[in-house]
Amino acid sequence: MANSDTESPEAGNESFVYRVFSELIGSPLNLVLLGICAILLYKILSGRRKVQAPPREPEIPKMKKRDFTLEQLREYDGKGKDGRLLIAVNSKVFDVTRGKRFYGPGAPYGVFAGRDASRGLATFSLSEDSIKDEYDDLSDLNTMQMDSVKEWEMQFTGKKYDYVGKLLKPGEQPQDYSDTEDEQSEEKRREDKKAD
Ligand code: HEM
Repeated sequence: MANSDTESPEAGNESFVYRVFSELIGSPLNLVLLGICAILLYKILSGRRKVQAPPREPEIPKMKKRDFTLEQLREYDGKGKDGRLLIAVNSKVFDVTRGKRFYGPGAPYGVFAGRDASRGLATFSLSEDSIKDEYDDLSDLNTMQMDSVKEWEMQFTGKKYDYVGKLLKPGEQPQDYSDTEDEQSEEKRREDKKAD
């Protein structure tokens, strides 16, 4: 007679795999989440294939440093003339044009284009409800969710996207960046490039 002491290791593995599998397909919610993940993965992978195909689109010039109201940010949803894509994370605005396959029109995270993505990233949600039309101070998010927003912000900063400026709170005045060292050297670089 077989009992748990005499079960072979293969049988143990088999029942573990079986348990994980039935857990995954056992609830409708899990099935829906699995479906969403599969769609996202498919969109990301098919987008990657498209981007690798030549000819490459010309890069648009680096954006001058400036701050944005929520309304101004909306103009940069990738559907404008130059296709520039901006998103805000934790009150910082990043130029994510390079990540068009993620945030461009029809891309898996296109819902964040020209918007404040903080709440969506914090709650791992791509639903429209997690992106407010008014300024979102995120004050109801818990510590874990805020930590997650900061982690995303760090990923964006350290990874590949240019920091453009701040997302302004209602009534907050934009900063003048023209006299900052960063902007002056950037201006010089732009002029040198023009002269070449
Ligand atoms: C559960 C299903 C999901 C799967 C399988 C998935 C898969 C992926 C993969 C493979 C990448 C990396 C692509 C690359 O670097 O080449 C990625 C990046 C990313 N994912 Fe997801 N994801 C899922 C859900 C989500 C959700 C719900 C959100 C947002 C709330 C999200 C936000 C992002 C963002 C912002 C990036 C970074 C894109 C960048 O580098 O700019 N993902 N995802």
